[in-house]
Amino acid sequence: MNIIRLPGLIDIHVHLRDPGATHKEDFYSGTCAALAGGVTTVFDMPNKGYDVINQQELENKIGIATQKAVCDWGLYLGTDGENISNFENLADKVVGLKIYLTSTTGHVLLPEELLPQVFEKWPKTKVIVCHIEGEKTGLVLDLAAKYKNKIHVTHVSTKKQLEQIIDVKKNNLNITCDVTPHHLFLTQDDILGLKGFGMVKPPLSTKSDTDFLWGHLKEIDCIVTDHAPHTMEEKISDNPPTGLPGLETMLPLLLTTYHQGILGIEDIIRLTNTNPQKIFGYKQDDGSYVEVDMDEEWMVKNEDLKTKCGWSQFNGWKMKGRVRRVFIRGTKAFEDGKILVDQGFGKNIVK
Ligand code: DOR
Ligand code: ZN
Repeated sequence: MNIIRLPGLIDIHVHLRDPGATHKEDFYSGTCAALAGGVTTVFDMPNKGYDVINQQELENKIGIATQKAVCDWGLYLGTDGENISNFENLADKVVGLKIYLTSTTGHVLLPEELLPQVFEKWPKTKVIVCHIEGEKTGLVLDLAAKYKNKIHVTHVSTKKQLEQIIDVKKNNLNITCDVTPHHLFLTQDDILGLKGFGMVKPPLSTKSDTDFLWGHLKEIDCIVTDHAPHTMEEKISDNPPTGLPGLETMLPLLLTTYHQGILGIEDIIRLTNTNPQKIFGYKQDDGSYVEVDMDEEWMVKNEDLKTKCGWSQFNGWKMKGRVRRVFIRGTKAFEDGKILVDQGFGKNIVK
């Protein structure tokens, strides 16, 4: 046994499906999965089929998370462009704004021509997280420079996209980005075996793309799970929806690469804790931390997972490094597979 303490992971990109698709996940099951993965704070996206755009939707979701969450949390606001005039009232209640410029399962799309208005009206001190794929990256980065917004490009997956971001980061300190474990640890070649369980947006990349991401991790600000569960039934169907879970496997995968000499502990802390705090202006409580056994070797098994979807694209993978205990604001919330706090223990980090 070799127990070390890490600051609780902050995952700034999850889809907990509550309300809207609670048969896939809800705020309780999703935050249990977070604790099992050493994640002490999750930032939840405007949900599939239930986009949080207006005050009523936002307050309803705040109520649900308040009742059910077992780790700390924050919410994003979504936009279709219709709620721009309400930004001022709503921005204080959320961690940031999420915009989708590329269509993905059920999420509200922002028409491209409304981008300048959104950038102009969203408070400059608050983050805009952008789901952009391919050719639209340049457009967003140009507008971000013009309007001086804090822009965070999420799930960067290709060499080309990361090159564009690295290039603008030289002159624009307000641009940050993240990658997901599935875009680092899997490639297009895995889709053959994974079938529906490898279908995600942005799609898994080529080996040369993932090599480039690994080679430029110093220029990437965070790692996020983009935890997006769908049922097993849906994933084995002929037309599987895109999205993969990730809360329970992110830290073990990173610890495994530590043993392989690829990442240092300081890299893991920077990507999962200090940068998320810096980018979102969030000061995490010193009593929120994780104790991991660095030496424990174990295997990811679908049946052991806490996520309601009950599967992982990393099923069968061998890991070295396991979450033993999780503390939140000084309270032991998780130990050896067991959740020790009641529903509603988790707090909204936006006061
Ligand atoms: O594959 C994806 N699924 N990508 C996204 O951006 C959203 C997610 C979902 O909510 O299912
Ligand atoms: Zn997402």
